[in-house]
Amino acid sequence: MDLDEAYSVKTPQDSKKLYASWAATYNETFIKANDYVYPLAIAQHFDERVATADVSTVIDIGCGTGAVGSFLANLRPVLCIDGFDISPEMLAEAATLRRIGNSPVYARLVEVDLTAELPLCEYDAMISAGTFTHGHLGPDTLMNLLQLVRIGGWFVVGINSKHFVSQGFGDALKVAFDSGKISEPECQDTQIYGPTSPHFGDLATIATFRRTN
Ligand SMILES: C[S@@+](CC[C@H](N)C(=O)[O-])C[C@H]1O[C@@H](n2cnc3c(N)ncnc32)[C@H](O)[C@@H]1O
Repeated sequence: MDLDEAYSVKTPQDSKKLYASWAATYNETFIKANDYVYPLAIAQHFDERVATADVSTVIDIGCGTGAVGSFLANLRPVLCIDGFDISPEMLAEAATLRRIGNSPVYARLVEVDLTAELPLCEYDAMISAGTFTHGHLGPDTLMNLLQLVRIGGWFVVGINSKHFVSQGFGDALKVAFDSGKISEPECQDTQIYGPTSPHFGDLATIATFRRTN
């Protein structure tokens, strides 16, 4: 499995199929092999921007095998983290992760197609890496996901920088800000892969904002 295959998905069903066959080796063949530093960068960004007292629950969108949750749980040991993903095989990997003290990294793992009907829930914050990208989740879905976080809650969402403008994420965030739904997004680019990766230089834009309405 390589990055070209990951970027060739077009529909939620393609994602389900791809990640079903990739889940067992994803950590070795993708995270390790590509020096994938993005989950750590997102978790650190969250920890720097979001006050501990502001959040007790967070939802990890497209949690996959749980890389983002693992780093976040290390930084915020008592934070309750739930993970949503379309792939039961990826969720099964995330379910094996433990915090220091042996409690699970994720309190709840939910199999859901995030482009379809959403469960009713209200988190204090949302975090995501690697899921707003080629053929995965687009700007309309991001806007629909605003409802999963309470008014005043936080979003720290990574979006592939190549798509930030071309797929309309920047425009969607501007419309949401102009219409009073969210605070003005603070956008910062980060490396997706480390310097030893053949893909070093690919960037993600981390958008940080709050729900205001
Ligand atoms: C590249 S992986 C990123 C996983 C993890 N966040 C990480 O950084 O390692 C993208 C994840 O998005 C999930 N995904 C893709 N389409 C989805 C959809 N429509 N609904 C929910 N999850 C989806 C995939 O199953 C996969 O686990």
